[in-house]
Amino acid sequence: MSDGHTANRLAVESLAAGDPTGWFEPLYAAASLGRTSVPWDRGGPQPLLVNWARDENLSCAGRRAVVIGCGLGDDAEFVAGLGFDTVAFDLSASAIRMARHRFPRSDVRYVQADLLDPPATWPGAFDLVVEVQTVQALPDPERGRAISAVSGLTAPGGTLVVVTAAAETTEPKSPVPPWPLTRAEIEAFATGGLVRQRVDDVRYPAGPGGGRFWLAVFRAGL
Ligand SMILES: C[S@@+](CC[C@H](N)C(=O)[O-])C[C@H]1O[C@@H](n2cnc3c(N)ncnc32)[C@H](O)[C@@H]1O
Repeated sequence: MSDGHTANRLAVESLAAGDPTGWFEPLYAAASLGRTSVPWDRGGPQPLLVNWARDENLSCAGRRAVVIGCGLGDDAEFVAGLGFDTVAFDLSASAIRMARHRFPRSDVRYVQADLLDPPATWPGAFDLVVEVQTVQALPDPERGRAISAVSGLTAPGGTLVVVTAAAETTEPKSPVPPWPLTRAEIEAFATGGLVRQRVDDVRYPAGPGGGRFWLAVFRAGL
């Protein structure tokens, strides 16, 4: 069962203390002990990512992928299942432990790491970069830095795919995440040599009750 209340309380406390990412670890730690649940745990890969990957003729063999803010690992397992040599990372050590525990025979290399201070060998190292709903959990100024850091992981000739909640610029900001990305923010991933291939404004699930998402794809020049 989703427990957004605990997540919101931890986020409010952490944000008030000036630590916008400090709430992820206690949330996952509590979830690992069965004391709460992870509100974004969908029990499978993000369907918009799955649909995009199945429509693309992705060339995977011998290629490296990275999954950002991987949480419990479902997107990473999906990407590895396509044939990519996959690294998946999260700020939360408990999230990484839970992902490894859920997928004990996984080929994914799960790593505890900070997008805002990634290992020195990672920038420009990945043929496929997958960002699903991580940046939307960060406020400014970390948000702007995170957008550049995501793009910066893409290798020459590589692809960045972003799936994230979408908003009009006029929407008031909620006191707690998620903070959907505006069009200007999604377009800002086209930095450091990346060129926007598509930015789709999608309803998911389809229909009036669905949320609004960006499905955006960027390509890095050779
Ligand atoms: C809203 S959750 C989304 C998780 C996952 N991508 C999904 O869609 O299920 C955001 C995730 O980003 C992670 N995260 C937040 N800031 C991060 C950072 N600076 N570096 C790495 N991971 C981060 C959190 O721990 C959390 O797992």
